[in-house]
Amino acid sequence: MSKKILITGATGFIGSFLVEKALEKNFEVHVAIRKSSSKQYLQDKKIIFHYLDFSSKEILKKELQEIKSQVEKFDVIIHNAGVTKAKNVKEYDTVNNIYTRNFLDTLLEIDFKPNLFIFTSSLAAFGCGKPGTTEPVMLHHEPKPVNLYGKSKLDAEKYLQSLEDFPYLIFRPTGVYGPREKDYYVFFKTINNHIEAYIGFQKQYLTFIYVKDYVNLVFKAIESNVRNKAYFVADGQYYDSETFSKITKKVLNKKTIKIKVPVSVVKGIAFLLENISKPFGKYPTLNKEKVYILEANNWICETEQLKTDFDFEAEYDLEKGVIETIEWYKKEKWL
Ligand SMILES: NC(=O)c1ccc[n+]([C@@H]2O[C@H](COP(=O)([O-])OP(=O)(O)OC[C@H]3O[C@@H](n4cnc5c(N)ncnc54)[C@H](OP(=O)(O)O)[C@@H]3O)[C@@H](O)[C@H]2O)c1
Repeated sequence: MSKKILITGATGFIGSFLVEKALEKNFEVHVAIRKSSSKQYLQDKKIIFHYLDFSSKEILKKELQEIKSQVEKFDVIIHNAGVTKAKNVKEYDTVNNIYTRNFLDTLLEIDFKPNLFIFTSSLAAFGCGKPGTTEPVMLHHEPKPVNLYGKSKLDAEKYLQSLEDFPYLIFRPTGVYGPREKDYYVFFKTINNHIEAYIGFQKQYLTFIYVKDYVNLVFKAIESNVRNKAYFVADGQYYDSETFSKITKKVLNKKTIKIKVPVSVVKGIAFLLENISKPFGKYPTLNKEKVYILEANNWICETEQLKTDFDFEAEYDLEKGVIETIEWYKKEKWL
């Protein structure tokens, strides 16, 4: 009999790849989506759809009870739903932290605990390595989230870890890129338009994980016996921001004009945009939260445990991943 998996945030970039991998691995695949969600990347007829409203424990309880009447127990739940770009500052905590708590509380309340609960956290929950160096952030370091997004993920992690007898794994991916992704896409599009923009004059060390590598890792972890641990996830290498641009320019075969904007200017613009937008209930794309991430200059993280515990090694380095990603953007006429 097929193992049963429930994936939240299945309609998004990473979620849609998790679903594809779960189908490939012959799981009975259940997805939790919202009425407003697009099913563009969830076309496989084998996918079983459920609607879950994490905002109300009462509604969530009814919805989960209904699922429980059909599925006795999930082997795995991947809680991948989350906001990386909130509409306002409060939304990070609401969706990433409170909704995760609501989900966990309700699973326990109705005795619907899975054999394994995987939480998609983020490297942002821990913050960065030592600024101005290439010293990585280590798993034993004290977490220092750089922004509210990171804090919301950390608070959810802490809650999950505080539960007794609840088998979990926490993954904290660094920047995930690949087909269907919409943030790095802006960077690729800018280079495609011959502009190479940098914030600040200091070297920034970046880390990446290609989405196919990320989902491979998750399923290696599911197949392992390791439980109740947390990991950073990256491809094991680090790249300075100029290398990222160089690889992209080479793949796109473009020449660019370099623009370097001082951090203080970007911060000033972000501050101004936030204040202008506030009376209209809007939250600008460039906001202070974003600047905290952009100005951090060392996103290197410890990844050795992924090899030790799951025998995981990334198949894609940045260049291989960027080639495949840009091929997809071109095929889909995004570039
Ligand atoms: N992309 C990265 O570089 C990266 C790095 C580290 C961690 N992560 C984490 O990975 C997860 C997936 O990110 P992604 O990049 O795939 O983002 P994404 O494409 O924006 O997908 C987010 C998913 O979460 C769902 N979601 C958002 N708000 C929700 C709510 N209030 N209730 C229920 N579902 C909600 C979305 O559903 P709808 O389709 O209905 O909006 C969507 O399926 C997130 O938890 C994110 O924090 C991402």
